[in-house]
Amino acid sequence: MADDTTDTKSSNQMWGGRFASGPDAIMEEINASIGFDKKLFAQDIRGSIAHATMLAHQGIISTDDKDKIVHGLNTILSEIESGNFEFSRQLEDIHMNVEARLATLIGPAAGRLHTARSRNDQVALDFRLWVKEELQKTEQMLTRLIAAFLDRAEEHAESVMPGFTHLQTAQPVTFGHHCMAYVEMFGRDRSRVRHAIEHLDESPIGAAALAGTGYPIDRHMTAKALGFREPTRNSIDTVSDRDFAIEFLSIAAIAGMHLSRLAEEIVIWSTPQFGFVRLSDAFSTGSSIMPQKKNPDAAELVRAKTGRINGSLVALLTIMKGLPLAYSKDMQEDKEQVFDAAESLELAIAAMTGMVRDMTVNTARMKAAAGSGYSTATDLADWLVREAGLPFRDAHHVTGRAVALAESKGCDLAELPLSDLQAIHPDITDKVYDVLTVEASVASRKSFGGTAPSEVRRQIAFWRARN
Ligand code: ARG
Repeated sequence: MADDTTDTKSSNQMWGGRFASGPDAIMEEINASIGFDKKLFAQDIRGSIAHATMLAHQGIISTDDKDKIVHGLNTILSEIESGNFEFSRQLEDIHMNVEARLATLIGPAAGRLHTARSRNDQVALDFRLWVKEELQKTEQMLTRLIAAFLDRAEEHAESVMPGFTHLQTAQPVTFGHHCMAYVEMFGRDRSRVRHAIEHLDESPIGAAALAGTGYPIDRHMTAKALGFREPTRNSIDTVSDRDFAIEFLSIAAIAGMHLSRLAEEIVIWSTPQFGFVRLSDAFSTGSSIMPQKKNPDAAELVRAKTGRINGSLVALLTIMKGLPLAYSKDMQEDKEQVFDAAESLELAIAAMTGMVRDMTVNTARMKAAAGSGYSTATDLADWLVREAGLPFRDAHHVTGRAVALAESKGCDLAELPLSDLQAIHPDITDKVYDVLTVEASVASRKSFGGTAPSEVRRQIAFWRARN
């Protein structure tokens, strides 16, 4: 905004505080989207080339004009790519910026490009193409994150760690099993991405303003040229639909939620109190005042990015809520939300992939922690059921007494002498010590999907075949 207070159209006394140039300038500022939709330049030009080619094929414009248009558009593409393009806010958006430049480059033929088309279907096309590419990128990035987890899971299929519920030690699990839990989550995120690509794989161009067009266009031809499965079926829906963007944001929000849980675990695990993992220098920072510190900044920022992504989802849902059909200018506010969320999601996945790949796992610390907190109490109860024939409820009670005794003696279950255990229940034999170790505990949990190393390896094989 110009700072020229001598402007004759100077700002309104009542409400024009920061608008030195008066209402026209305010209109321009609120209306223009070029500041952010210039990101769509490549999609816009691709779409226009496909449209012009179809118009010529259908005899709606001449081949000569089409050639000029295509040549001009390619020139504009390289101008923008090389930073030699001057975007103008007066021209509002990317569509009009490109078209105005085309007119300068090729003259009157440029005016034929917008035949049988409106900015409403044009923006729907550009944005869909952009979101589709972003989803494809997300799919690849999730695949790399899953691969990083599969490698760590394989390496640690037998490494024992405490499994938690309520963040209290529950039962021993393997670190490989814990890693595979994230593979399941990111695998679901990836299949949501694939479904979203399928949903949006319809070409909007040719819906025109909202009603279609009287020109003999071929929407199947443009759909094919632009890599869509088919054209959309209803022109009103086509220009008023932003589900594809909301779906992207929902997927991003769910993936972000998964990433933030992982981030939180990494923050906890990397504290000196836990000491389960050590982040590489590449993904942590020092403190400017406390020399001993190594902070998990990247994990913390991943945790925070989730907040931004959620905000974008709620923003776009709210923008779209209650809009009458078909296009309304409100919908111009869709792009910044999606661009910002996409950037956050990409960064979060990339940072997590790096952290997971690089972190050092302290298996000794994990194993020691796995054995504390009476984590094999369930194994003792199960042994009493299996070997002494007790009903599980009674076994649970006996085990509770053993835990209380160990607690009062300040030792672990496996450290209680046999005489103590037999005083609690006479049928306990020294065989019980076989199940009280954390290794025995995890090895016994062979149920489908369980934490036994053999099961974890089965899970890894399942995902390897699908990654
Ligand atoms: N910049 C606009 C947007 O992003 C393009 C569509 C404008 N259409 C219109 N009828 N004014 O939504």
